[in-house]
Amino acid sequence: MKLTILADKKGPLISKYIYGQFAEHLGRCIYEGVWVGKDSEIPNVNGIRSDVVAALRQIKVPVVRWPGGCFADEYHWKDGIGPKENRKKIVNTHWGGVTEDNTFGTHEFFELINQLGCEAYVNGNVGSGTVYEMQEWVDYLTNPGESPMANLRRENVRQEPWRLAFFGVGNESWGCGGNMRPEYYADLYRQYQTYVRQYSTEKTYKIACGPNIDDYHWMEVLMKEATPFMDGISLHHYALTGAWEDKGPALNFPENHWYSLVESAQKMDELITKHSQIMDQYDPEKRVGLIVDEWGSWLAVEPGTNPGFLYQQNTIRDAMVAAVTLNIFHKHADRVQMANIAQMVNVLQAMILTDGPDMIKTPTYHVFDLYQNHQDGELIASYGAENQLISHTISKKAGRLTISLCNLSVDQAFTLELKKQSGAYQELAGRYITATQMDAHNSFVEPETIKVRGFADFKCVEDQLTICLPPMSVVTLTEVGS
Ligand code: AHR
Repeated sequence: MKLTILADKKGPLISKYIYGQFAEHLGRCIYEGVWVGKDSEIPNVNGIRSDVVAALRQIKVPVVRWPGGCFADEYHWKDGIGPKENRKKIVNTHWGGVTEDNTFGTHEFFELINQLGCEAYVNGNVGSGTVYEMQEWVDYLTNPGESPMANLRRENVRQEPWRLAFFGVGNESWGCGGNMRPEYYADLYRQYQTYVRQYSTEKTYKIACGPNIDDYHWMEVLMKEATPFMDGISLHHYALTGAWEDKGPALNFPENHWYSLVESAQKMDELITKHSQIMDQYDPEKRVGLIVDEWGSWLAVEPGTNPGFLYQQNTIRDAMVAAVTLNIFHKHADRVQMANIAQMVNVLQAMILTDGPDMIKTPTYHVFDLYQNHQDGELIASYGAENQLISHTISKKAGRLTISLCNLSVDQAFTLELKKQSGAYQELAGRYITATQMDAHNSFVEPETIKVRGFADFKCVEDQLTICLPPMSVVTLTEVGS
């Protein structure tokens, strides 16, 4: 592959929110994965496990979406405030039929947000909640003045309102969130969002429920009927190895599943392109963001685990899915304003897996680590002869380039030549992950099979950079100085 990097040509900003996370009341994501309780022997601060927070802070998580997912449209926020002993116990109907005791509620979520030092994305209930309930939640969260809800918050020992950066009006309203038609949801969206009031100078970014995968009709109707009332509209697309009903295993999979999963992830490019074309007709200025608030690989659960808990292992193949998808989001940085991988801990394509007091970082985590420098970087264009098995992003921040490359081939190494237009490269530092087996992964016995290592297989002379990219690898080179 030979590329010329247009290092001085201005490009769109890659929003840091593309690196967002999704944490639902599902399986062991919130309970065990995030929340262990103040009395736990697992080190915690105010009930939230410290090892997980420290790991997530390292990759600079910018935003967390909560409480769902399908759970969001059955969640009644008042069940999760006030003294623990009075909180309602409910059945988590979507996810395993387990008891949800509402220990982790609004205050606990914002404690997590505070510990992570990131923004909150709260998803409201349209499917089984009322406008009044949603209005009261936003009031409780954000009102600095006098009101029954602001005073209730104070009774629950929180004086100041929280910062509510993002608010979603329903989740998958075309499916688990109410099985609605787009025309019906568009009207409900207009109504519900009216009562997502602004109580201070802090503006909340309002997100309408967008389409599933390639439901272009849904996008068309929503944009036609509700564009002026939204800041963003969501899109969900999961990578699969084949049919939805027949999910492939996370480990011990055949080679054709490697490529089918990656291909399914690559479909994100077509989806964003086509949805953006529709959005362009109603919003040519690109004010409204496409918010891909659920994405990632959805594989068969680990044998012996609760099928409703969606617990899957995470391999170097998932790292490919993450790198390829993030590269696609970057490419569409002019429209994609946020994305939230599903999910943060112990569910689907997780960053982190826990087992009692133990915690491991997944290959996907390491991609988020390798890619951190692209957060809020300027997208840099390039041209030349591309290779279908190589996916890349080049961005610039504070005058320094970051080049990320992903080799999707299971057995072929590639040599790449990258010429920097208008000037020599600054000194480059390389880091990478790779593996020799398609299902290489970290386990609680061997937690560092895949970890970030220094990468030196490159040569740089003035404006000419030559890189040898091993198979199954994600490499990042960063200009570190002159
Ligand atoms: O992430 C798991 C589930 O996938 C979410 O709850 C739902 O929104 C989607 O169908």
